[in-house]
Formats: sequence, C-alpha cells, structure tokens
Amino acid sequence: MTNDDIRNQFPILGTEVYGKPLVYLDNAATTQKPAAVIEALSRYYLTLNSNIHRGAHHLATEATEAYEQVRRKVQQYVNARSPKEIVFTRGTTESINLVASTFAERYLSEGDEVIISGMEHHSNIVPWQLACHKKNVKIRVIPFSDSGELDLDAYRSLFNERTRLVAVCHVSNTLGTVNPIALMAREAHAHGAMIMVDGAQAVAHTAVDVQQLGCDFYCFSGHKMYAPMGVGVMYGREEVLDELPPYQGGGEMIKTVTFDHTTYNELPFKFEAGTPSVGDVLGLGAALDFIQSTGLDRIATIESQLLAYATEQLRTIDGVQIYGTATNKTGVLSFNVGSAHPYDVGTLLDKLGVAIRTGHHCTQPVMDRYGIPGTVRASFAAYNTMAEIDTFIAALRRIAPMLA
Ligand code: ALA
Repeated sequence: MTNDDIRNQFPILGTEVYGKPLVYLDNAATTQKPAAVIEALSRYYLTLNSNIHRGAHHLATEATEAYEQVRRKVQQYVNARSPKEIVFTRGTTESINLVASTFAERYLSEGDEVIISGMEHHSNIVPWQLACHKKNVKIRVIPFSDSGELDLDAYRSLFNERTRLVAVCHVSNTLGTVNPIALMAREAHAHGAMIMVDGAQAVAHTAVDVQQLGCDFYCFSGHKMYAPMGVGVMYGREEVLDELPPYQGGGEMIKTVTFDHTTYNELPFKFEAGTPSVGDVLGLGAALDFIQSTGLDRIATIESQLLAYATEQLRTIDGVQIYGTATNKTGVLSFNVGSAHPYDVGTLLDKLGVAIRTGHHCTQPVMDRYGIPGTVRASFAAYNTMAEIDTFIAALRRIAPMLA
C-alpha cells in the first residue's frame, strides 16, 4: 500500500506533538485538509470575496458562479437529479435539524410515529425529539446486535399505519457499521414512510448514489470529507422539498415581501436564508476534486486495509475489547483496554503522538447498549499508513500494563 502521493498533499501531517511525529487517527471527528482546499479558501478571500446572488458587480458574479458550480459538483457526486435538490447548510447537524423541523411541520401530527436506530449520533436523535415532542409524535428505536448490526426483523416490525419517517445513519460514527440503506428505504416506502439518511460518516468513504439508495433526504458535512468546517449539505427529493415550509426566514429565501405577506424563493434558495459561507463552499468544491482525483475506490481500499490490519493487531493485545465487528464496516475502530477508562488511554496515547477520540462519541445510547461509559476510537483516512498503525499499536502495548 503506497499513499505518499496522498499524504504529501496534507501539510499538517508533518506536525510533531511532544517531539513525536503526529499520528492522526481521529478522522471520524474531522479529516485534515489538503493544500488544495486551504488554497481554495485563501484564494476566495484574496481574489473573490463578495456576497453572492445579490451584487451586479464583477466579483459578485464570479463568486456566485463559483458557488453554484460547487452545487453542481455535489449534485454529481451524490447523483441527485437536479442542483435544486442540493441545499448548503453549516453541516450535518443543521441539515438534520432542517429536515426534522420542516418535515414535522408539514407531515407530522399527533399520534404519528418516526423510527430511528439505536446507533444514531445525538444529532440524529435530539432534533427528532424536539420536533416530535411538539407534535406528540412517538419515536421508535431499531435495536442492534452485539456486533453492531441493525436488527432488520425488528425494523420491519416497527412499522404501522402511523409511521411517517425513518431517520438512520448510513455509517455509525462509533461502530463503523455500514447500514443497508437501499433495503431500509424500500421497506420504508413500502409502508408509505419517507427515509432520511445521516451520511456524515459515509460520504468520504463509500460511493453515495441517492437515487440508487432511494432515500428522500441525505445529510452530510464538508469537514469529514477533507473540506472546511462550516459547510454541509442537505439533499432532498425535489417533490418533497417543494412541499416543505422554509426553515429559516431572511434574505435570499424570499421572492416578495410586504408587511402582510411573503412569498418564497424557488429551490434550493428557499432553504438558504442569509449570507452563506461562500469560501467554505468553494473549499468543499476543492475537497470533491481531491476525492475524485484520488479515486473513491482507492480511498476505500486503503481504509479497509488499514482497518483490517489495525483490527488484527489490536486483537493481539491482552484485555482489548472491540465494539463494532459488523461484516460491512468502514475504518472506525472502537475499543477498550481491560477496565481502563478510555480517557486515560487517550491521554497516554496523546503523549506518544497518537491522536484518537475517547468518550461516548455523541452516542450515549450506544454506550448504554454495551453497558460502558465510553470507548477509545481510532478512525482512518486515505492518508494514514500501516507504519502509523504500528506506532499506534506499539504505543498501546506500552501503556496497557500501566493501566492494568
Ligand atoms: N461526530 C463526530 C465524531 O463522531 C464529531 O467524532
């Protein structure tokens, strides 16, 4: 496995921490950014900064065109039917809040039901609780097995005539499980319900085709796919988005305003109130170029080799318990070392230059399911190397006896 050509594009990977080379294995929290993304951001502020869709001047026209071009790139990346189906947001969390709030207003009424899964990130639980609480709507939860796979029989049994929507992650941020979205979407539609997918942990690791998946909404962030923080996407089927009320009011989302009455702009602008984060959107465009020039297949192959090697090595350390052993997994490895607190493991790893995440990973119900307070989580990206896995494992071997 050689990926020096990928690695060399990430200036931050040359950093040292505590005098040791940084081994960055916290990619599920956020990926590092290639130079091309950082340059796209600075180019925007150096040469193009202006407000879009408003000005008649040269810079505004150029910035508007560059921004809309990224929308078309995103459309192609996820194979949406039209750029009208791509709404820019601040990130997955805002995308899900947008769907939950507007879907509830338009489609939910007292006694209805929404299905979510037991492995959701808090950002795909709490927005539904907020929306459902207001309408007296019941949330039902799909359980998962010890290996971290959704119980699909239980899923089927949760539907009834009041089920309106399923909200589920494509990939679990804690367990790495890749959920069978196409199958789950068919099941939802067969019961007359819609499906919203949290794609935050999927979109930089596996091909996403919203038409093939058959989802009604697909939400993701830029910063977990090599793009800047502060930009995300809410894909929604045009027919559905047309039916939804606006999420936020403000400039750009309107057609006409009087003190008595306002009419709303067409898609996707109806959902993009206020000045968007133009520079970050252009950074997202550069990140998509990076992914496409590297090749998603190559990225997925590298990450699956890293996962296989790290899993095998981790299993050789006494007392290690891995959480999430689904057959279909991305490069996320959650574990504990004996009864050591995950935070202690993380702190000691950090001192040896290895950056991982510890805690509940914003999935407290997953921790409750296993009866643990948290895990240590290593997560991989295309620029990680087998040598880094060796450093990580050697560091764990060194600290494990200290924690026993
Ligand atoms: N959702 C991100 C994670 O899993 C922050 O770490």
